[in-house]
Amino acid sequence: MNEYDIEMLKNLANLHDIGKIQVDLSVLNKTDILTSEDWNEIKKHPIVGYEIVKEITFLKDNANAVLYHHEREDGLGYPFGIDGKQIPYFAKIISIADSYDAMTTDRPYRKALTPAEAILEIKKNRNRQFDGNLCDKMIEVLNEENQIKL
Ligand SMILES: [Fe+2]
Repeated sequence: MNEYDIEMLKNLANLHDIGKIQVDLSVLNKTDILTSEDWNEIKKHPIVGYEIVKEITFLKDNANAVLYHHEREDGLGYPFGIDGKQIPYFAKIISIADSYDAMTTDRPYRKALTPAEAILEIKKNRNRQFDGNLCDKMIEVLNEENQIKL
């Protein structure tokens, strides 16, 4: 990836969840099981985020990375359920990085996973949630960073 793309990706990644500003705080901070209404609320955030990011001149051409950051390789993601062939590369990278970050961070409803546990989860989701080649790259980088041999 060239320097321009890396800079583009950093900006998109920083803003990928900006659409959550329109999700009710009571839903975002909820510690018990989410209702289907809560989920419908949460599932809007990629669309709201896309609407915002596409107004930013230097990001608008890649705003679909925000729109599709919760889509999955197997087509079981949201908001559209498109599959890996249709998901833009930036969206795939944001998805796997965001998931690793979420897994290794404490949440109101669960403790953080260790890096080794999170890497195992990424492996399990190879070609399911995540792009297979990106999984391999991600695991390679994380193993180096964490000095883990699996
Ligand atoms: Fe998100």
